[in-house]
Amino acid sequence: MARKLLALVSAVPVVVALNNGLALTPQMGWNTWNHFGCGINQDTIVNSAKALISNGLDKLGYEYVLVDDCWQADARDPDTGAPVEDKSKFPDGIKAVADQVHSLGLKFGIYSSAGTYTCGGKFGSLDYEEIDAKTYASWGVDYLKYDNCNNEGRAGTPQISYERYNNMSQALNATGRPILYSMCNWGEDGPWNFAVNIANSWRISGDIYDNFDRYDDRCPCTSMLDCKLAGFHCAMSRIIDFSAPLGQKAGKGHWNDLDMLEVGNGGMTYDEYVTHFSMWALAKSPLILGNDVTDMSDETKQIITNDAIIAVNKDTNGSPAIRVWKKPVSQGGDIQLWSITLVNYQWVFAVLNTSPVNQTVDISLLDVFIDQGSSFGSGTFTLSDLWQKDSSGNWGASVGNAQGTFTVSVNSHATRVFKAVPASSSSRREFETVDDPHAYYPGGDSRELLL
Ligand code: GLA
Repeated sequence: MARKLLALVSAVPVVVALNNGLALTPQMGWNTWNHFGCGINQDTIVNSAKALISNGLDKLGYEYVLVDDCWQADARDPDTGAPVEDKSKFPDGIKAVADQVHSLGLKFGIYSSAGTYTCGGKFGSLDYEEIDAKTYASWGVDYLKYDNCNNEGRAGTPQISYERYNNMSQALNATGRPILYSMCNWGEDGPWNFAVNIANSWRISGDIYDNFDRYDDRCPCTSMLDCKLAGFHCAMSRIIDFSAPLGQKAGKGHWNDLDMLEVGNGGMTYDEYVTHFSMWALAKSPLILGNDVTDMSDETKQIITNDAIIAVNKDTNGSPAIRVWKKPVSQGGDIQLWSITLVNYQWVFAVLNTSPVNQTVDISLLDVFIDQGSSFGSGTFTLSDLWQKDSSGNWGASVGNAQGTFTVSVNSHATRVFKAVPASSSSRREFETVDDPHAYYPGGDSRELLL
């Protein structure tokens, strides 16, 4: 088996990512847009940065504080052409805000568009890449989100889009400052094919909408593979669908961005936000909070601080989860099984129920371990439930051993996420990766399991 696996691994093409050393795991942070839109000022940013710290979110990895659209003045500096901030919102200047964010131990990011204007109608960076990148670097910017509005028709083939986005990539690199480059061209022209070497992440779809599954004609595509109008108002579970075939294109330093999180913004239930957070983590999307972190409910905090789920996103095996199957259910919607390989003999699988009714589902470990082969998948595994706390209050309560097929109950619109580790060391030997004694949980063999 080990030899067979090695052969499989070496058949996968090696991709060289953008060489800025950033986003070796998907970036995490907070962004102004989903909650505040254009209604931002320097206090919004600094207060949110402080809230990241007072809530312990920085310790969990949320490190980037990101200013989205509408920070700009009405026009560039008429003499130099340099970008200028709106002084009514940022009286002390962007640099002073970046300095404050840095003094809190966090990183600072900004937004522009690869167009003449941004989506909010402010000046964009098209043909101003060099001076903009230099100015951002001089302000201490660590991250650029680079949008796609008003691109003057410079899209339509991967090469045209590549050139437009590569201009900013080169300009950022030329500053000598490590600046994470987050492309936001909504999946147009297939950035997962052309942006791997120029960006740290790329949006895969039109803008997220804070709703589980409402269809909206403004997000008209059913798949992003040949989508001609990415649009916006894309319900959360539709973005999960969009992401399913694209995981194969992501890896260390270059990620599929499923868009910023809506957890805490009020449009979804607890179970729906659990699905949102879980699936973004398993898809290895950047985890960028989009709520008001200065004013959060306990439920919101519970979700965004689930360190067992965050650990899946941060696992150093850079391959996103695969969707093993999706089965329609009679009441509408479907049940989906997703599976992801982590380092050190650990796997995680998720059972997602997009249907309007609660379901009980038979899950076969042969499906969970579809890529590892049937001799491995027929072994016994110790499972923990990553959305259940153990007696010490830690996420990831142990739920026993499983072999073969077992039954999982999943509420409507909810996702159950389990970690699986081989219950015996002999099955671990089939995977000659880094040995980590903490990954081994001995246990008995129970064949009947209801989760
Ligand atoms: C686009 C982007 C959003 C946001 C807005 C700002 O719609 O996709 O994420 O940045 O622009 O105007």
